[in-house]
Amino acid sequence: MTGGPRQPRIGMIWAQTVDGVIGAEGGMPWHLPEDLRHFRRTTAAAPLIMGRKTWESLPARFRPLPGRRNVVITSSDDRAAEITGAGAEPVSSLPAGLDLLSATLRSEAEEADIWIMGGGSVYARAVAEDLAELAVVTVIDLPEPGDTLAPTLPKDRWALESVQPASGWWHAESGVRYRIEHHRRRGMNVS
Ligand SMILES: NC(=O)c1ccc[n+]([C@@H]2O[C@H](COP(=O)([O-])OP(=O)(O)OC[C@H]3O[C@@H](n4cnc5c(N)ncnc54)[C@H](OP(=O)(O)O)[C@@H]3O)[C@@H](O)[C@H]2O)c1
Repeated sequence: MTGGPRQPRIGMIWAQTVDGVIGAEGGMPWHLPEDLRHFRRTTAAAPLIMGRKTWESLPARFRPLPGRRNVVITSSDDRAAEITGAGAEPVSSLPAGLDLLSATLRSEAEEADIWIMGGGSVYARAVAEDLAELAVVTVIDLPEPGDTLAPTLPKDRWALESVQPASGWWHAESGVRYRIEHHRRRGMNVS
């Protein structure tokens, strides 16, 4: 990368139940507007990378998510053509997507330059290969069952940096309790 773009700061963002469930039957088994607002505020105009199933879980009228690049991982040429037609950018792997976006980083990005937004298979790969330095996790106090799980952040490589609110839980308008955790990969400095 000599003379090339700076190293991107890569974040992951997800919402999970207290048991680590992030998805069920291709969608999310809750509706929490407060978390959608948190997602928009946190990721702002930074580019997003997601797996093809997560892309398809977004309602067609809301994709691509506006105001930023949407990169979608797929192994299928046919699906890649559909993704391009819908206004997003297909890539064949997570590292390929990160390389594509690293060439044009926005200098005003805040916590991360690029956000990995799921799903389960993509988070798992990002953690296994140490591709991200930050994980912003909404923990929702629900017992919902599901078929897709959040990755485990190994304690020898990741540390919990902060929890909001410090006193325990926020209360959503619906009455559901939730909190927001920031985890950082050890050795990665806060910028
Ligand atoms: N709670 C949250 O914050 C959150 C966030 C995101 C998603 N979700 C949920 O998670 C679930 C989806 O997760 P998922 O794990 O089933 O699917 P996913 O990770 O969204 O997408 C998997 C697909 O991405 C492509 N892909 C992933 N890695 C690849 C690689 N290395 N090379 C080539 N292609 C690759 C493949 O697409 P092709 O099959 O087209 O090749 C694969 O089938 C849904 O229920 C969704 O609602 C929850």
